[in-house]
Amino acid sequence: MKYVLGIDVGTSASKVVLFDSSFRLLASHSGEYPLYQPQNGWAEQDPRDWWTAMRNAVRAISAEIGFTQEDEVTIGFSGQMHGLVMLDCDGAVLRNSIIWCDQRTGRECEEITEKVGKDNLIRITANPALTGFTASKILWVKNHEPECFAKCAHILLPKDYIRYMLTGDFATDVADASGMQLLDVPNRCWSKEVLQKLGISAELLPKLYESAERTGTVKDSVAEELGLPKGTAVAAGAGDCASAAVGTGIVEDGLAMTTLGSSGVVFTHSSRVRIDPQGRVHTFCAAVPGEWHVMGVTQGCGLSVKWLRDTICRDYAQKSELTKIPAYRLMDDDAESVPVGSEKLIYLPYLMGERTPHLNPDARGVFFGLSAIHEQKHLIRSVMEGVSFSLYDCFNVIASMGLSVEEMIVCGGGSRSPFWRKMLADVYGLPVKTLVSSEGSALGAAILASVAGGMYPSVLAACQQIRKVDQSCEPDQNAHAAYQPYYQLYQELYRNLKDSFTKLAQL
Ligand code: XUL
Repeated sequence: MKYVLGIDVGTSASKVVLFDSSFRLLASHSGEYPLYQPQNGWAEQDPRDWWTAMRNAVRAISAEIGFTQEDEVTIGFSGQMHGLVMLDCDGAVLRNSIIWCDQRTGRECEEITEKVGKDNLIRITANPALTGFTASKILWVKNHEPECFAKCAHILLPKDYIRYMLTGDFATDVADASGMQLLDVPNRCWSKEVLQKLGISAELLPKLYESAERTGTVKDSVAEELGLPKGTAVAAGAGDCASAAVGTGIVEDGLAMTTLGSSGVVFTHSSRVRIDPQGRVHTFCAAVPGEWHVMGVTQGCGLSVKWLRDTICRDYAQKSELTKIPAYRLMDDDAESVPVGSEKLIYLPYLMGERTPHLNPDARGVFFGLSAIHEQKHLIRSVMEGVSFSLYDCFNVIASMGLSVEEMIVCGGGSRSPFWRKMLADVYGLPVKTLVSSEGSALGAAILASVAGGMYPSVLAACQQIRKVDQSCEPDQNAHAAYQPYYQLYQELYRNLKDSFTKLAQL
């Protein structure tokens, strides 16, 4: 039998999902791992934790299914983007990975802008220098840990470390590579000019593929250890945003989605390169060969809600144990009893700085308007509203670039909340829909594998199998209007606090 296995190396967990060739879900396992925050604004993970979690999840799937040597499995990858994995010449991990939400590289971004030139950088890499992106992380290690940099023989992105452990190959795809700030995004190749100006050798970088191409085969010894058939093929895959787009069928012009994950993403497909000259949103190569996507990112999306659950709202875990209702559901129910505007409480979701539209690593979270009447339920609603306003900021920049959006597909963990979907429909003033399959990135990875494995002729053809709408939520135009004054104040707060954020960072 033919199978496709989607591996998603996320920020809170690695998820492995097995589908048949019609994308029917057969088995799913995941494993969590820690996020290390050695300093305010820093974020690291140990690549070996990703590997352990992924290996255990694949083993659990193999045990459940019992693959035979006659079975044909193709693996596709999805993963958190931008994280820097450095290996020595023996392939050993040199240091923890500095991941996407780490904000330590403000100085290195200035260095990149100075060396490459702001406009030139946007022209080549389609983005201004960003703390989240890999290039500034590489320069940070070069500047602060020269002995580690000297030993570095290979630079990989998170999911590509898993590929390396499975196959021994150093490879990546153009969609994920777009977030390194070393790729010539319009021409889909490493930029010799940027590499040379930043003093980074091209030899450190993996070989580039389109997302639906095959990059290699799982090593026999590893296949045996994981219970996979010998000769299991591996497709390039894509960064989590591009693969979630494939998993939700956002592969043609006019289609858009919002991902409610640790970070939030507002994403639209574009068959031609469109670059915001101010660099407020990212333009990346799409997982569809020869096409692109434009997306805005809210750094602290699910991250904000998780932070609230794990700090101020810890007692919801106890209530959840008693009632057997998930803590997030209980939080939603309480937030729903609070009116639009959270009784004049506004949250800025900048716990880990912000990308779209501010590009400010020094921005931090804010509750504005706290009063003695506020309870946990107001904080919960206000956090969800603040995150939704940030996503609306992303949406507005995309709309200002002339990319039209008539409905929004939502995916990611947060999309399981009917309350949040309703809030998003009202804030955007657009219908918000979920699809029957909620697997998003892992499904996207599996779809890319199915094309690489010859089961479908193209990504578009494979996607036609899956774009089936499940729930649709229409916007309430009165609520949309009611949100506007809060949204305007939300925007004004950032403008007013911008200098204070800088001062806070310098304390
Ligand atoms: C995209 C981004 C996040 C991460 C983590 O640019 O930084 O979506 O990939 O999910």
